[in-house]
Amino acid sequence: METAALDTSSKPALYASLLQQISAVLDGIDDPVATMASTACLIHEALEVASWTGFYRVVAPELLRVGPYQGPLGCLEIPFDRGVCGAAARSGKTQLVEDVDAFPGHVACDASARSEIVLPVHDRQGQLVAVLDIDSHQPGAFDAEDQRGLEAIVARLSEHWS
Ligand code: SME
Repeated sequence: METAALDTSSKPALYASLLQQISAVLDGIDDPVATMASTACLIHEALEVASWTGFYRVVAPELLRVGPYQGPLGCLEIPFDRGVCGAAARSGKTQLVEDVDAFPGHVACDASARSEIVLPVHDRQGQLVAVLDIDSHQPGAFDAEDQRGLEAIVARLSEHWS
């Protein structure tokens, strides 16, 4: 499937065109697996700094299990009380981590990971259903502009969660 070229002139422009691309690809889709797989792919292709891009799903109270992703093998399960993903699930807030070694309880699935951003994903009813995890081998790879752009993307994903 052909997708429109992304505007890479600035981060806000990149995220605006990435949101447009994701919305176009997911138009009419009401299926969480297709939504997660396509979104992980498009974000991973768009962000050069990303080493791992994917979703952890809420599968039981206080438990995340890996979902569709791009990159090397990820951890299978992460309890809510562990790691950056757990912190995002627990708090319901985006976790922007410039240095993973300074984050207590960081789950090192990939020993080369240096920074990451994890965002909670909610369904149409506002229920936490997953987190979006993007890791990088570069320290401080993500900033407030990435957070803004990615929060707009995860807000849009709710529409595709039946
Ligand atoms: N970085 C995550 C673990 C998941 S992976 O690295 C794929 C965390 O600390 O929650």
